[in-house]
Amino acid sequence: MCPPEHFEVRYAINPWMDPGTPVDRARALAQWEGLVACYRALGHTVDVLDPEPGLADMVYAANGATVVGGRVLGARFAFAEREPEAVAHRAWFTARGWADVGVPVQVNEGEGDFAVTGRWLLAGHGFRSSPLAPAEAQEYFGRPAIGLELVDPRFYHLDTALAVLDAEREEVVYFPGAFSPGSRAVLAALFPDALLASEADALVLGLNAVSDGRHVVLPREARGLFGPLRERGFDPVGAELGELVKGGGSVKCCTQELRPAPVQSSVPPP
Ligand code: ARG
Repeated sequence: MCPPEHFEVRYAINPWMDPGTPVDRARALAQWEGLVACYRALGHTVDVLDPEPGLADMVYAANGATVVGGRVLGARFAFAEREPEAVAHRAWFTARGWADVGVPVQVNEGEGDFAVTGRWLLAGHGFRSSPLAPAEAQEYFGRPAIGLELVDPRFYHLDTALAVLDAEREEVVYFPGAFSPGSRAVLAALFPDALLASEADALVLGLNAVSDGRHVVLPREARGLFGPLRERGFDPVGAELGELVKGGGSVKCCTQELRPAPVQSSVPPP
């Protein structure tokens, strides 16, 4: 995660951003700290990436890379304003000894458009990431990538339209209206028991959520999701990130998940 020390809305690269709306940076920082505290209270470790002046969107750390099985695929941003963030993310991993840090050829905005389930890599495209990004990521991670076309500019990244609730059990929640008819059919085939979100919950970025398989941290305004999540045995935790929504992101956008390599057994072979 990366604190919003230089957060501002000076350009508009998604429909949520309006340079005419003032941003309260102190408030953004307090809300971000609240999210960090929430993760720590749930028992998760939070590593911090140093923010850089001039990189107003760096708080949306999910976009900077994708990590699966200990392998890191760097990002390539669609807009020049954000491209230096990709360098900062790769440097962070390299400095900490992550050996496999790939530089992509295709535009991919990290976990903004990649979501990881137990079996698949779900790969959104249409607004930011290239339609060729799924194939590149599939080859890099050796994991089947499922391309999903986004068609509503308000849901410009996959993580504004879909969240993985339980990776091992292939359980997801999504807003069907964000996807093309073909991609909706693919989602219905892969996840027949998915929780479907309303447009109202999607419009408060309710799908921009992070789940550890039990606790689901999501924008507290997504009232319609709390009951259905509880019915499925999840524990929804509401977060307040209203100031960061002005840049077009919430809980998930602020959170890049580090998925380590499977632990090798230390028992010597017979
Ligand atoms: N202002 C940022 C952009 O438009 C917001 C990114 C939100 N991040 C996300 N994972 N959806 O690029």
